[in-house]
Amino acid sequence: MATMLIKHINCLSLLVVVLLFAFPSSNAMPVKEIHSFCKETFELEFCMQYIGKNTRIAAARDLSDIFLIAISEAQIQMTNAITQIDRVRLQYDDPVRKNRLSVCEKKYESAGDSFHKAWEMGQKKIGRTMEDLEDMFNQTQAGLQAVSDCQDEWAKNGPKQESPLTLQYNNVQKLSQIARVIIKKITS
Ligand SMILES: *[C@@H]1O[C@H](CO)[C@@H](O)[C@H](O)[C@H]1NC(C)=O
Repeated sequence: MATMLIKHINCLSLLVVVLLFAFPSSNAMPVKEIHSFCKETFELEFCMQYIGKNTRIAAARDLSDIFLIAISEAQIQMTNAITQIDRVRLQYDDPVRKNRLSVCEKKYESAGDSFHKAWEMGQKKIGRTMEDLEDMFNQTQAGLQAVSDCQDEWAKNGPKQESPLTLQYNNVQKLSQIARVIIKKITS
């Protein structure tokens, strides 16, 4: 009796597994598709790490959802940058560094606004126009530009110094690249 029951359960779980594979619950994008998308971004490893292994990828149904993940990751970089700014501010005593840091703080706030607008526009899937897509592109570029302005700040008007936000800058560059590839793919 017990063995029959176990067999029965095994049969049932096999059925569940078969059903799960045959009918993915949320029409999620297959891993293979994400891998080939990531290849197109020229940032394969980074893309697989930040997008492919993202906890939200399981619910991603299309390129628009991947755009939202990329922009959310950019927003996380903004939060990390603000934390980093607050941390190094306490260590800085030279006025040049302090000044550059305060420029960066404003730039990262403005980049955060731009990424938020890009994200809001990305949410709008129904009735999205070419102009909306252009706006998503422009806001993403504006965010990247603000972050680049901060990075440039450490090499101009005075001695060249190491930016405390290079990691965030590099990550935002790659995430914006991913976002641009998505917009191009949606548009074409
Ligand atoms: C996007 O930026 C371009 C170039 O700066 C500009 O011509 C265009 O009007 C902008 N589009 C939108 C929808 O804001």
